[in-house]
Amino acid sequence: MILLISILGSGKVGASIAFLCVSNELDDVLLVNTTKEKAIGESLDIASAIPENSKFSIRGTDNYSELVGSDVIIIAASVGVYTKHRAENMDFQVEMIKEIAEKIKQYCPSAIVLLVSNPLDVLTYFFQKISGFSRFKVIGIASSLDTSRFRYYISEKLSVPQSSVSNALVLGEHGDSMVPIFSGVSVGGNPLFSMIDSRETITENVRNYWRTLRTFKSRSQFGIAKNTFDVINAILKKKEISIPASIVLDGEYGEHDVAMGVPVKIDQNGVSEIQKIKLDDTELSSLKKSSQKIRNDIKSVHD
Ligand code: LAC
Repeated sequence: MILLISILGSGKVGASIAFLCVSNELDDVLLVNTTKEKAIGESLDIASAIPENSKFSIRGTDNYSELVGSDVIIIAASVGVYTKHRAENMDFQVEMIKEIAEKIKQYCPSAIVLLVSNPLDVLTYFFQKISGFSRFKVIGIASSLDTSRFRYYISEKLSVPQSSVSNALVLGEHGDSMVPIFSGVSVGGNPLFSMIDSRETITENVRNYWRTLRTFKSRSQFGIAKNTFDVINAILKKKEISIPASIVLDGEYGEHDVAMGVPVKIDQNGVSEIQKIKLDDTELSSLKKSSQKIRNDIKSVHD
């Protein structure tokens, strides 16, 4: 059976994901870019990272028909650069996603699709609506990245290793309304609440992590690449993982017809379960605000 990982967009993020897949011998990788030379150049570079005994390879193309047979498709393409907010180029990104959805429907209708491009939740929503794919096979990767940042900040603030931080979780929009869930976090077995004075500072730091990072480098790449690789690995190695990810909701958390970050289980078939977790009143109210922000963005997209 042909197995293939196809990555649309061979910029920093797409190329980093390809590098992790190739160097960990996950599967054959196809790097697609509208600029063929970019896709070929990154593929030639990453090909030098193919382990000696690997049976897999990588190639670059601008030809979407080569997507045929893809099991997992990662959408990391972008038509422009955002600076202040992830939703800055929304109309252009949605237009791009509409074109990509038609091509994926045509060439690999049974693939599992992982979105990374921003505005993440809006694009996850539109891809699922336009492609008609099962919502369980359209997964937006970002809340697990936000969770990695939440865990990092807690460990830095309390000067403890990340291994002692349990149940950190960020839900909702991959954006300024994201919701770090403090109520379930424990550090060395003790509730986080007993160790920090305010949620606000950590919440703001997690929400602004990408802006802070951009004062030092052009954009994030390795954090999102590793979080995406973890999902590809789970799907192709038939391992189940539990992470927060963006998915179109149909009643879960009291939400319909919107995509946002919620706790999910993922296995070789995509999302196997949307997990229900206990949230305190502050978290519930923040999550409602977050879903409303995404809805407003969806509504604001011009046809
Ligand atoms: C970030 C991008 C991936 O949060 O949205 O760094």
